[in-house]
Amino acid sequence: MKRWGVCLGIACAIGALLFTAARLAGQSEEEQPSYLSAEACAGCHEDLAKEWETHPHARFLMAAGREVEGKGCEECHGPGSNHAAGDIKAIRNPAKMKPAEEAALCLRCHRRDFPAQDWHAAAHGRARIACSKCHDVHHPPKGSKMLRQPVPDLCFSCHPQQRGQFRQNAHHPVLEGRLSCLDCHDPHRPPTRSLLADDTCTQCHAEKAGPFTYAHDVALGDTTEGCLACHRSHGSPHPQLLRLAGRGLCQQCHLDKITHNPGGRCWQSGCHVDFHGSHRDPRFLR
Ligand code: HEC
Ligand code: HEC
Ligand code: HEC
Ligand code: HEC
Ligand code: HEC
Ligand code: HEC
Ligand code: HEC
Ligand code: HEC
Ligand code: HEC
Repeated sequence: MKRWGVCLGIACAIGALLFTAARLAGQSEEEQPSYLSAEACAGCHEDLAKEWETHPHARFLMAAGREVEGKGCEECHGPGSNHAAGDIKAIRNPAKMKPAEEAALCLRCHRRDFPAQDWHAAAHGRARIACSKCHDVHHPPKGSKMLRQPVPDLCFSCHPQQRGQFRQNAHHPVLEGRLSCLDCHDPHRPPTRSLLADDTCTQCHAEKAGPFTYAHDVALGDTTEGCLACHRSHGSPHPQLLRLAGRGLCQQCHLDKITHNPGGRCWQSGCHVDFHGSHRDPRFLR
């Protein structure tokens, strides 16, 4: 008797599940949302729609003669009829999506700027930063390219330590506006080669790229850190962005020269002056 009771309970539960499933299926069929129009959205989201009118996206998406379903708001938010009819939750809100889902939404149109696999391999994609953390898709943006803030302030909002680095005695002139973070970094892509590769630096300091008759292997950086064996990239307390100021710089590698000490720094006193590479002497002497 007791066993029957249990079975009956299970049958009931299954029945109830099937019933609910059927109801849900029926419901979604009946109330499949359809597209309205940007004007319909503006009816209730007046302030936001007003701001969006002057946004670069509006200029492109609302262009006269551009025929697409849900032209404007619903290209990102999906069909909104159920939402507008009062079922507030029945609308896609990227603010509540996973960053990767939001990215897929944007990359439907922006694949040509950079492909999805680049984004997911980039530091920001891997760290799950949403596109809309840097780009403002509704309000008239404060920076070019719809940026929430201009570079470098945008970058410093998440990388405050880097601001300090650019204030050190020797530094690349980013705060002075002569260089941009974007000259060396692409926020959407992984570095094509290691960021440490020589070509990051030599695109501007071409004279250090050689070719030299006598190259200092380390500076060319094919197998080592390249320029960053001796220099910091952002700033340094030592002159010329150096990692270390004295003999220690060279002795990071040339340990056998610890007792070879004619005085001063190895590259001064008229000795190994051409250490970036030389046409005169294999030991980089003057
Ligand atoms: C009849 C009024 C009305 C219309 C029409 C309307 N909305 Fe809304 N919408 C609201 C209200 C009310 C809310 C909840 C409060 C708020 O966020 O302003 C809301 C919220 C939202 C949200 C956030 C939802 C959430 O889950 O957080 C999005 C996104 C949205 N609307 C987009 C749209 C889009 C796109 C359209 C045009 C297809 C549209 N709305 C048309 C009234 C409307
Ligand atoms: C290019 C894609 C895109 C377009 C076009 C777009 N939105 Fe959005 N919308 C987003 C994203 C991304 C978010 C979440 C991030 C944010 O709020 O900045 C969002 C969030 C929202 C929200 C919720 C805000 C919150 O705080 O939860 C509302 C409401 C909204 N959009 C309404 C609209 C309306 C109305 C239009 C047309 C006038 C529109 N959107 C056009 C991408 C878009
Ligand atoms: C329906 C297609 C579509 C979607 C979806 C879309 N965009 Fe765009 N976006 C465009 C078009 C078209 C332009 C203007 C042409 C161009 O520069 O490619 C543009 C331009 C931009 C620009 C450059 C603006 C400038 O000043 O040059 C940025 C940044 C941008 N979109 C970011 C986003 C982000 C972030 C999302 C997702 C929240 C998104 N877009 C979703 C179509 C789209
Ligand atoms: C960490 C900040 C950041 C994030 C996150 C980010 N972007 Fe950008 N984006 C930028 C900056 C900075 C620029 C300006 C680049 C320039 O001027 O050279 C830019 C430019 C763009 C442009 C203009 C074309 C181009 O390549 O310069 C598009 C389109 C764009 N971003 C789309 C996106 C999309 C889509 C996502 C998410 C998949 C995204 N961005 C995520 C910072 C970001
Ligand atoms: C919304 C926050 C945010 C903004 C804005 C932002 N970043 Fe990032 N960035 C991160 C996070 C999180 C990581 C992941 C690694 C980490 O924890 O530092 C990262 C990683 C990086 C890395 C790679 C670090 C590594 O160890 O591989 C670089 C380079 C970088 N960001 C540069 C920039 C630049 C340039 C800008 C401005 C255009 C910028 N970021 C804006 C959050 C941000
Ligand atoms: C002259 C080229 C250059 C400029 C300009 C530059 N960076 Fe870098 N950055 C690099 C290199 C090279 C690395 C590789 C790591 C290292 O220095 O050891 C790096 C590393 C980073 C990292 C990873 C963490 C770290 O310190 O190792 C972040 C974050 C970063 N940069 C952010 C920024 C921001 C934000 C700006 C602008 C304010 C900026 N960078 C400007 C070349 C540059
Ligand atoms: C986009 C161009 C650019 C790139 C890339 C670049 N630099 Fe520079 N570098 C500059 C500018 C501009 C200065 C300042 C020159 C001046 O003040 O006259 C500078 C100055 C320097 C100085 C001298 C600093 C001082 O205090 O006098 C060193 C050393 C240096 N860079 C090393 C590097 C290294 C190492 C890299 C690679 C991580 C690199 N640079 C990448 C543009 C660049
Ligand atoms: C073996 C260590 C070492 C390596 C590797 C190295 N440098 Fe230097 N670099 C120095 C030292 C030391 C100075 C300071 C020279 C002085 O005091 O006159 C310097 C000075 C500079 C300067 C400023 C003075 C000038 O000569 O223009 C630039 C720019 C520079 N290096 C760029 C680079 C670049 C780019 C690379 C990579 C291709 C690189 N360096 C690799 C040690 C190195
Ligand atoms: C990151 C490692 C590294 C650093 C730092 C470094 N070197 Fe070198 N150096 C090398 C390598 C590798 C060679 C070539 C291989 C060898 O020893 O035969 C070399 C070769 C030389 C030579 C050619 C003579 C020889 O022994 O073959 C001289 C001279 C030299 N370095 C001077 C310097 C000076 C001066 C500094 C500091 C400004 C310096 N090096 C910093 C790695 C380094």
